[in-house]
Amino acid sequence: MSEALVTFDNVVHVYGTAEQQVTALRGVDLTVNEGEMVALLGPSGAGKSTLMWLCAGLLQPTAGQVEVCGRRLTRLRQSAATDMRLRDVGVVLQNPSRNLLPYETAKGNVLFAQRPTRRTAKMKSKRAHDLLDAVGLAHVSSHPARRLSGGEQQRLAVAVALANGPRLLLADEPTSQLDTKSAASVIDLIKAANEDLGTTVIAVTHDPEVGAALGRTVTIRDGRVGSEGHHGADYLVVGRDGAIHLPQELLDTVLPPGSLAEAILTETGVELRRVDVDGGSRAES
Ligand SMILES: Nc1ncnc2c1ncn2[C@@H]1O[C@H](COP(=O)(O)OP(=O)(O)OP(=O)(O)O)[C@@H](O)[C@H]1O
Ligand SMILES: [Mg+2]
Repeated sequence: MSEALVTFDNVVHVYGTAEQQVTALRGVDLTVNEGEMVALLGPSGAGKSTLMWLCAGLLQPTAGQVEVCGRRLTRLRQSAATDMRLRDVGVVLQNPSRNLLPYETAKGNVLFAQRPTRRTAKMKSKRAHDLLDAVGLAHVSSHPARRLSGGEQQRLAVAVALANGPRLLLADEPTSQLDTKSAASVIDLIKAANEDLGTTVIAVTHDPEVGAALGRTVTIRDGRVGSEGHHGADYLVVGRDGAIHLPQELLDTVLPPGSLAEAILTETGVELRRVDVDGGSRAES
């Protein structure tokens, strides 16, 4: 049994002030084991980026516990969180330019990321060259990051995040601005880090191909883990309060919101049956 590298225990996150509050996460339980690759899916506003920020130690949860790479992130000092990102966790934020030093060259960005390593200047330079080559940016390696296109910055951000062979890669929509070919090269690079170095990967995506490439999918809905997929099969996740998110097609057809149902234990499992109560008599369907 492999070890848990990331654990979310009933995590709640509320943004804002006393007057205006937005609850982004409302009780997330999630475990990602060392060496796993997970795609985070879910509609816009579901809380995916918030989950990534908490995981990177860039935000503190309002309630609950987050543990990453053996560190309890709740109340972790800023400097300790920065140290974790430098050594163990590669982060690609959703806005590509936020991941880069804008006035530094593409190669300079990958060199700068390697400063905590003990590699020689020659080794750092080779690593930068290899990574830029892998994401198709060798020809712009001497261009300042701010002059690169959005898609180029996104690829550079992935190269920077992988520069030190992190234990954990957190990538928030790393292929959203890429064409199919560039997206494939980024996914290949991420998979290679997982296979060669055992890097654990959590990637937010709207791209079904990325989801399929990573194997395990976790869908966030309304600030909770709604469902999980493993190698193509989808499963509901039972929350700690017993709540389950039904698939949208059932909500649209058999069990619209507000309908009454009973859960019946059968020999093979549990059956959810809609009940219509009409003037005291009941009909099942
Ligand atoms: N800094 C902030 N201040 C206030 N509310 C915020 C802040 N950041 C996010 N939110 C709110 O928290 C909720 C979750 O946002 P989050 O960015 O985590 O969603 P997401 O799933 O990443 O969405 P998208 O797919 O659009 O990137 C949203 O309702 C959003 O408006
Ligand atoms: Mg987001």
